[in-house]
This record gives sequence, structure tokens and C-alpha cells, in this order.
Amino acid sequence: MVELRPADTKQVKGMTLRRDPLREDCFSVVNSDAELQEWPDMTEISRRQRLHRHMNNETGAIEIAAQCLVDFPEAPWDLRMHLARQCWDESRHVASLYRRLREIGGYKGEFPISNFEWTVTCMLDSLAARLALQNRTFEAGELDLLGQLPAKWREVGDNATAEVLESILADEITHVRFANQWLKSMVQEDRRIVLKIAMAIRFLSAVTAAVAPKEGEVGPTGVPFVKPEEKLAPVNIEDRKHAEFSDAEIDQFLRQSGFQSIMTDAAGG
Ligand SMILES: [Fe+2]
Ligand SMILES: [Fe+2]
Repeated sequence: MVELRPADTKQVKGMTLRRDPLREDCFSVVNSDAELQEWPDMTEISRRQRLHRHMNNETGAIEIAAQCLVDFPEAPWDLRMHLARQCWDESRHVASLYRRLREIGGYKGEFPISNFEWTVTCMLDSLAARLALQNRTFEAGELDLLGQLPAKWREVGDNATAEVLESILADEITHVRFANQWLKSMVQEDRRIVLKIAMAIRFLSAVTAAVAPKEGEVGPTGVPFVKPEEKLAPVNIEDRKHAEFSDAEIDQFLRQSGFQSIMTDAAGG
């Protein structure tokens, strides 16, 4: 891939991150999720903010997959086709969330947005590392979240949003699955990729720690910060299996070590 220029990056709390993707002027872009406005319950404003935030995350997912196509033209054709199909899926996700946002009275730019996944993932110089972070970490986390969110929306009588989230979940399983399949074969072909993946995970941990709110800090809406580990959705075991995480991997993930088995597979040939 082409080397990043300083103009392509930004500094956030001592970390060098990829500069934000362009957004329309109506959006106010912040550097971390801690600066987003959040409400813990399902009030009307909280519902609009949830859809608005999710809509921008899906926009970021298109951009990350598209940037992979630009940065790694030498990748195998089948993998490039998966990334291209992913862009198409993510664009439908944005469109359906934007439609629901408008239907419940929200609008583009109503809340601040953050492009955290993009700013971290697009610093990585290998396709394997980007798939490991975006698809196998962030999107796998979305499987967990989407495993429980539809019920939350149904509880407040919003079946239409619940259905949108369920259809997004079905697509996300395929994005995590192709990344799992390709990462396994990439690692089998070249074991140095394990190091690239391990460094990517370390980078993510370092950035997460740098931007994390400190104990006792209060968010922009006056809600006290909750530690990230306390906010994690329960592991969506069934859909992680559909996405071809092995039983052993899911088990390890439950103990907070999602990448061990790829490395073990590689060590065992
Ligand atoms: Fe998506
Ligand atoms: Fe996705």
C-alpha cells in the first residue's frame, strides 16, 4: 500500500490516527466515542441518537472496506469481491437506518459523530490486520450488540427498527465469516501475518486506553461514564458460530482472548 503522509493522520491524546473521512458540513465530528452524547434509556432523544450513531458507524464500514480495495489492489480477486459486496451491504444499512431516523423525527447532524473504527483500522498497513480489526473485532462485536438490540426496540413498540436491525445482523454474519475464512488461510500461507494481527490488536488496545474516559468523569449529557467492559453486550454465541468462529474461539473470547486460536492453528500448521 502507499505510505501514509502526515496530512493523512491526526494526533489524539498522544496517538497517531488516520484523519477522519470527509463528512457533510451538517455533521460535527469528535475524536472519540467518549465525546458522543449518549442516553442510557430508550427515550425519544436516546432512540434518535442510537440510530444516528449506528448510521455513521455503517457509513464508516463502507469506507473501511472501500479503502481496503484501494490500498490492497494485489489482494486475491475473491477477497476483493467480498469487500465490494460488503460495501453494497453497508450502504443498504446506512440507507435503512437513515430512513428510520427520519421516520422517528431525527435528521443528519442532529448529534456529534465519531469515526473511531476508521481512524484506528485505516492506520494498519496490511489487509489481514484491517480484517482482524474491522470485521473480526468491531463487526463481531456488532453481532453481540445486534443479538440483544431488536428486543430492546420491540419493548418500546418499535418493530420497524427491530426488523431493520435483524436484517443488518444477517449481513454482518457474512462479513465476519469471510474475514474469518480469509484470515485463516492467509495465516496458513504466511505466518508472519500473525505478528501483523497481534500488533494491530496491541495498537487497538493502546488507542482504546488513551481515549478512555477517566474514573469519575461525566459525559457530554451529564451521564457518568461506564467502563467499556461493563457496557459489553452478552456474547452472541449462535451468530458467532454462523460467522465461523470455532467453539474454542468463542470459549476463548468469553475469556477475552479472541485471537488465540488463529495463532494456535498457525502454530499447528
Ligand atoms: Fe453493516
Ligand atoms: Fe458489516
